[in-house]
Amino acid sequence: MASTPAIRTQFTQLLDLKTPVVLPPMAFASGGVLAAEVSLAGGFGFIGSGYDTTEKLRRDLETARTVLKVGPGSPLSIGVGFLGWILDKSEANSKELLALLVEYRVKAIWLAFGDNLSSWIQFVRELNQQSGGPPILVFVQVCSFQEALTAINEWKADVVVVQGIEAGGHGASYGLPLLTLLPLILANTPPNGPPIIGAGGLADGSQVAALLTLGASGAVLGTRFLLSPESLYSEAQRKVLVGADSSQSVRTMAFDNARGTVGWPKGIDGRGIRNATVDDYDKGVDTSVIRKKYEEASAKGDTDRIVVWAGTGVGSMKQILPAKDIVRELHEECLSRLRNASNLVIKE
Ligand SMILES: Cc1cc2nc3c(=O)[nH]c(=O)nc-3n(C[C@H](O)[C@H](O)[C@H](O)COP(=O)(O)O)c2cc1C
Repeated sequence: MASTPAIRTQFTQLLDLKTPVVLPPMAFASGGVLAAEVSLAGGFGFIGSGYDTTEKLRRDLETARTVLKVGPGSPLSIGVGFLGWILDKSEANSKELLALLVEYRVKAIWLAFGDNLSSWIQFVRELNQQSGGPPILVFVQVCSFQEALTAINEWKADVVVVQGIEAGGHGASYGLPLLTLLPLILANTPPNGPPIIGAGGLADGSQVAALLTLGASGAVLGTRFLLSPESLYSEAQRKVLVGADSSQSVRTMAFDNARGTVGWPKGIDGRGIRNATVDDYDKGVDTSVIRKKYEEASAKGDTDRIVVWAGTGVGSMKQILPAKDIVRELHEECLSRLRNASNLVIKE
């Protein structure tokens, strides 16, 4: 990357990045190694804390420190993402988890999918202020125009992540395509507003460039990074992704029903690769039967039944590459598309 120029946007300037690419927090999929590798390569990576205990998150943060080669007390150029509805389950546990952000001096927190995000944002900001450390930037992922306005105007989010319905993993069943939702939000973001970045169904650097030309200041790619050896996905899950067609990526509650991960806010479901678990759920097979089969399949790593979350971009992802090579490829493709786009303008 030494010879390629950096791409400058409001977002890259805020975080001092070379590439406007973000690895989102992905529960059970983005740990300390993946997050750190993406940041090292010039993008910005999040650990997905998801359903983790404090001990598990601490281990991930220690791993990230090792990969980033920073000592205790030095800032950590990664973020950590939390699911709002999981934080709501136990205030005491969650406060302990969030205290790690300050202890490890992470650069950012990402919040999504909860009815009380504003109180968690306030808690983190107060904690941050008391610690006297550098500000922890607050990313809020939104799935609708209304949510975006709230995040921008009321919560004063530092970065707003606009998630389209194409996104892998959890999102709003009522969501809009990214190309529809993003311009709506951009048109209503005040000039001094936060950077807006887009997520959902993105596979390559041409799409990152497309978002930048729309006026977004960065792009989030989740599924694409699942196809790196550093993701926590198994070999078998990665094989499913490599072989999948985009039409196999479907929104469903089948996997949450099978795993018993219930409690998501109203209207939230998940996008993954259709398999026998989804077929059974759609046919109305009894939950106890589906769960039993799911447990057996999990023990064997049987991908005909277990969840493989994936966005609609999955059909264009055919290669497993180290995370740093993915970032480099996205950067170079994006640069080339931006140059091509500027060549479309007739010079007078
Ligand atoms: C395996 C997986 C796990 C995810 N976990 C989370 C999560 O814990 N928190 C969150 O806010 N978003 C989560 N997401 C959604 C991402 O934030 C992001 O919106 C999505 O990956 C973008 O779409 P793409 O996967 O098509 O690139 C997850 C996505 C995937 C694929």
